[in-house]
This record gives sequence, structure tokens and C-alpha cells, in this order.
Amino acid sequence: MAELIRLEQLSHSFWQAKQEHPILKGISMSINDGETVAITGPSGSGKSTLLSILGLLDTASSGQYYLRQQSVNTLNRQQKAQIRNQHLGWIFQNFSLIGDMTALENVALPLRFNTTVPSSHYRATAEAALIKVGLADKLNALPAELSGGQQQRVAIARALVSQPSLILADEPTGNLDTTTGQSIVNLLLQLAAEGTTVVLVTHDLAIAKQCQRAIHLVDGCLTDAQ
Ligand SMILES: Nc1ncnc2c1ncn2[C@@H]1O[C@H](COP(=O)(O)OP(=O)(O)OP(=O)(O)O)[C@@H](O)[C@H]1O
Ligand SMILES: [Mg+2]
Repeated sequence: MAELIRLEQLSHSFWQAKQEHPILKGISMSINDGETVAITGPSGSGKSTLLSILGLLDTASSGQYYLRQQSVNTLNRQQKAQIRNQHLGWIFQNFSLIGDMTALENVALPLRFNTTVPSSHYRATAEAALIKVGLADKLNALPAELSGGQQQRVAIARALVSQPSLILADEPTGNLDTTTGQSIVNLLLQLAAEGTTVVLVTHDLAIAKQCQRAIHLVDGCLTDAQ
């Protein structure tokens, strides 16, 4: 499998009152196409920070991040935005859906920023994504009319709608009961089997074990999985 991500001695700090707070300390790793990787570790260990750097929402203070062999340091803002929109899909613990938009409208939203999909295809593309996650009968439902698991499926459909090569999920089952959470994990594993790389942050070791690889962060450093 081809290499999708390579990190070399990646470090990141936040600055507060002129004081440096190191959050990630010399992370080196690579992730291949179609891999499922769980990131585990205690609260505050830097999991979400690492995910935002992988997702090009934040830039590391030092070290190298290669995405498909290209150093992200060489990308300008517009190129980063284009990669975020066309190649990356995000899933969050709190679903992050827009409350006064239907499932279909929420899923179609990223397409407005995707110049490769003509507007006449928005509806059919969003509908296909919702059908894929098992919500064919909820196209016109508002988020408040859906269960937590269904809302997370809408969020997954929204992440999928641009056919990303990488899905980044931050505690995607954190607000769900075990059974519903497992159905969401099954869906993510199915997407990975179809070739999408999935990196997910989880506190749940039972979920981490189902991924091909689990990496463990402690105080900003990578250690072997528990
Ligand atoms: N914008 C920020 N400014 C300053 N410090 C920050 C900022 N964002 C995160 N931090 C700090 O960085 C550290 C790592 O945060 P991060 O959110 O990556 O942890 P996490 O492993 O995802 O934790 P959790 O499991 O609680 O979500 C924490 O100590 C946090 O307080
Ligand atoms: Mg976090």
C-alpha cells in the first residue's frame, strides 16, 4: 500500500504569556492508504492537537509532515484549503451538524466549496452518501429529529461526500452508547476496507483493538500501544 502520511520529528507548542508549552514532542510515524489507526492516550496528551495537524487545521511548530510525499510546509493557504475540502473528511464527538438544515442539506454543504462537483449533482451526491450510511429514509429530517447514532451517520455522510482519501475522527463514539458506537465503528471499518484511510481518536481500548494499528500518546510522546 502507498504511503499517505509521514511525520518526522513533529513537535508542536502553544505559547501563553510568552511561555512555551510543548504539546507534541518529536512524533515520527507513517500511515499507508487504507489503514485504520487508533490514537489513544490520557486527556491532554495531545491527541486532538495531532489530529488537527494531520487535518491541516493547524501547522506544527517544527518537524516535517509529508502528505503523499509532499511536505505540507510547501503548501499555501489555498492549496491547504483545497486538500481539506477534497481529500479530508472530519467526524467529531458532538456531530457538529447545523441544526436548521436537513440531513441532506448538511451533507451537501461541503460540496458548495468543492469545485469538482457541479451544483446540479449536489442533491444526488449527498443522497448517495446518506444511503451509504443507511439513512435513505431520513433525508429531510432535521438533526433534532434524529438519534445520536443517526446524527453521527449524517456527519459520516458529510465527511464522505467528497470521497476523501483520509477520514479523521475525534472521539466519534464518545457521545454514543456501546452498541450504537460499535455500529459507527463498523461503518468506519467498512470505509477503510474500501480504501479510505481512517485515523480515529478514542478512549475506548475495545475500539482501538479493532483498528489495524493503535498508537498511544503520553504527554505528547508516542509510545507503543497498550
Ligand atoms: N489553543 C490552545 N492553546 C493553549 N493550549 C492548548 C490549546 N489547545 C490545546 N491546548 C493544550 O494542549 C494539550 C493537549 O490538548 P489536546 O486537546 O490535544 O489533548 P487531547 O489528548 O485531545 O485531550 P482529550 O482526551 O481531553 O480530548 C492540553 O494540555 C491543552 O490544554
Ligand atoms: Mg481531544
